[in-house]
Amino acid sequence: MVIKDVFTLFDKSDCLMVLEKLYDYSYSDCILHYNDTIDEDYEKKILEYKKLYDRDIPIEYILGFKYFYNRKFETDENVLIPRFDTEILVDEIIKLDRKFDNILEIGIGSGIISITLNLELGSKVLGVDINEYAIDLSKKNATNLKVDNVDFIYSNLYENVDGKFDLIVSNPPYIDLEDFENLETKILKEPKSALYGGEDGLYFYRNIIADSKDYLNENGVIAFEIGYNQKESIFEILENNGYFNHKCIKDFNGFDRVIIARR
Ligand SMILES: C[S@@+](CC[C@H](N)C(=O)[O-])C[C@H]1O[C@@H](n2cnc3c(N)ncnc32)[C@H](O)[C@@H]1O
Repeated sequence: MVIKDVFTLFDKSDCLMVLEKLYDYSYSDCILHYNDTIDEDYEKKILEYKKLYDRDIPIEYILGFKYFYNRKFETDENVLIPRFDTEILVDEIIKLDRKFDNILEIGIGSGIISITLNLELGSKVLGVDINEYAIDLSKKNATNLKVDNVDFIYSNLYENVDGKFDLIVSNPPYIDLEDFENLETKILKEPKSALYGGEDGLYFYRNIIADSKDYLNENGVIAFEIGYNQKESIFEILENNGYFNHKCIKDFNGFDRVIIARR
C-alpha cells in the first residue's frame, strides 16, 4: 500500500486525519509523499481504522482527536465530537469585544468552549457537566493545552455552581424527539445525553434561562448554540424571563445557529 491508496479508503478530510495521526503529515506532506510505501505496521493500523470506519464509527473516535479553533483536542466516544458550528458560537462571543472576567459554561463535552474562551479572552472559566468522562477529558485537554484558570466540576445545570458570572454559555443537548428518532447511525454513536434535549428539544434552554438571573452579573450576557428550528421558541423563553435584547446569528449554511442575549 502507498500513501495515495489511503485516499481510496476514507473520505478526503478523514484520510488527512489518518495520515496526520500516523505520520504527522500536513496536506502538502501527503502530496509530497503520495507514492511512498507504507510499512507493514502502519498498513495494519490503517486497515484496523478502516474496519471501524465501515461500521460507521466516527473518525474522531477512531483516532481520538479533533481540531477546534485551530487547536488539537482529544476526544472519545463518551463525549460529543466538537463541531465546526460551535466555532461560530465562540467567534460571536469574541466579536462582542467585551471583557468577561468570569465565564460559566454548562455542558462542557471535551472542554472546547471553556478552554478556547480562556485562551482567546483570558477569562476565568468554570465548566460543568453531568458526565464524569467529560469532566476528566476536559481536564486532560486543559493540561495538554497548558490552560490556567479553568475549572471543571460535576454539576447538574447550576446545582453545584456558586457565584455570579459575566457570561453564561452553553451548547446544550438540543435535538428533539422527532429528529432524534431519525438521526444517522454515525451520529447515534455519540452519547444520547449530549444530543437529546427533551421532547421539544428545549428542556435545557428553559432551565438554563429560568435560573440564569441568580448567576449572571448585571449587564451579563447569555450565549447559546441552537438547533436550526429553535430561534423563535428560545426568543420567547428569553422574553418571558426578561431578556428583550437578543440576536440570532446564522451558520454558513444559512441556518439559525447562535443566540446572544442581554437583559
Ligand atoms: C451538545 S454537548 C456539548 C459539548 C461541548 N460543549 C461542545 O460544544 O462540544 C452537551 C453537553 O451537556 C452535558 N449535559 C447534559 N445534561 C446536563 C446537565 N443536566 N447539566 C450539565 N451538563 C449536562 C452533556 O453531558 C454534554 O457534555
